[in-house]
Amino acid sequence: MKIAMLGTGLIGTFYTMSLHGLRSRDKVVTVYSRTEERGAKFAKENNIPKSTTSLQEAVSDPDVDVVVVGLPNNLHKEAIFAAVDAGKAVLCTKPLARNAEEAWEILQKVEEAGVFHGYLEDLVYTPKHLKAHESVVNGAIGKVNWVRSREAHPGPHSDWFWNPEESGGGAIIDLGCHCIEIGRSFIGKDIRPVEVVCWADTQVKPIAAEDNAIGLVRYQNGAIGQFEVSWCFRGGMELKDEVAGIDGSIRIDSFLRTGLEIFSAVGQKGYVVEKAETDKGWLFPVGDEVHELGYNCMFADMFDSIEAGKQPTEDFYDGYIVNAIMDACYKSAKTKKWEPIEFKEWRGKENVEPLSAFVEYDENNWLVKEELLPDGRKKLILKDKTSGEILQRVE
Ligand SMILES: NC(=O)c1ccc[n+]([C@@H]2O[C@H](COP(=O)([O-])OP(=O)(O)OC[C@H]3O[C@@H](n4cnc5c(N)ncnc54)[C@H](O)[C@@H]3O)[C@@H](O)[C@H]2O)c1
Repeated sequence: MKIAMLGTGLIGTFYTMSLHGLRSRDKVVTVYSRTEERGAKFAKENNIPKSTTSLQEAVSDPDVDVVVVGLPNNLHKEAIFAAVDAGKAVLCTKPLARNAEEAWEILQKVEEAGVFHGYLEDLVYTPKHLKAHESVVNGAIGKVNWVRSREAHPGPHSDWFWNPEESGGGAIIDLGCHCIEIGRSFIGKDIRPVEVVCWADTQVKPIAAEDNAIGLVRYQNGAIGQFEVSWCFRGGMELKDEVAGIDGSIRIDSFLRTGLEIFSAVGQKGYVVEKAETDKGWLFPVGDEVHELGYNCMFADMFDSIEAGKQPTEDFYDGYIVNAIMDACYKSAKTKKWEPIEFKEWRGKENVEPLSAFVEYDENNWLVKEELLPDGRKKLILKDKTSGEILQRVE
């Protein structure tokens, strides 16, 4: 469609963004599937001109500029290597690999070949994350000292996720990778994650991997990234983040309770939203799932970066860092101790300042806390700089 847009103000801008987003100039020209029938059906439904059962044929198709890897975790390396050997730019879904060793081999491969590589970590591209991140960068909440990121749902939808040989692990590798990168994004990707402590267990499901886990990632400046993941949470998919800064805080609900609630006594009859457990009773759909999960902004960053010849916000180095953090989590879950995070190469800052931001009250005292009480008095909690004594003053 060739459209004449009348008006270039707010609504003209929104309409144009929407049209180009939904009827994008980026097109899938071929699709690879193991079975001819599924490939042909997918191609027909999505208006894709070609389908093939040969991965090699798909990646070396002369019409193809960019290969997007959306296969199970154990196939990422093979697919990326094939794309690189065909000289194509390559984008890979999360997690980059099943462990840091595999991720490092992948990173070496793309960097030696000099091809464009993008790590498709959609949850740092959600509209809410982007807005919150911008506030953090602008200093709205001061230095970030703690990020809590939670992803929990009733478990994944395909057999291979449940087999750690194929997936690389359980809820940590599947969901923890998102939460860890959300933490890095807010704390600062150039701040080195130093060590982790992690609890993981198989509480409910009959599997050889963890179905629940909680971890703390300590960064060199003292900040903490906390993640909570579950494959047994009932009631849908929870995606929640909390960011605490020295001067403020942020809370994000990206799924489940986002301000849209529907009650249906008879049932919605069909798909409600990813990982919804019911189509009856109280339903919590998401207005525009593709956009709210970050896919639109993520692909825009990837393709804009390819065109501009620059690095995207998320590349395979980020994927490698996340895998290295998860490796340390698996180790800690076994040893029940803090474990160091080992990187073959750290590309961020080396010696960063600790977070603490002491506020001076006067030349003799630090200000610890100030509060207005219900009776109108103002209380000041101070610390004597020389003696270290904590004192209270009421104004
Ligand atoms: N938010 C996200 O970024 C997000 C969400 C879901 C999945 N993922 C990732 O995407 C990847 C795929 O997950 P999914 O949910 O699409 O899984 P899926 O099981 O729904 O789809 C996997 C596809 O790979 C095919 N496949 C399976 N085994 C194969 C084999 N041996 N050879 C060739 N093809 C094979 C399947 O037929 C299917 O088409 C995973 O790495 C997963 O972690 C990312």
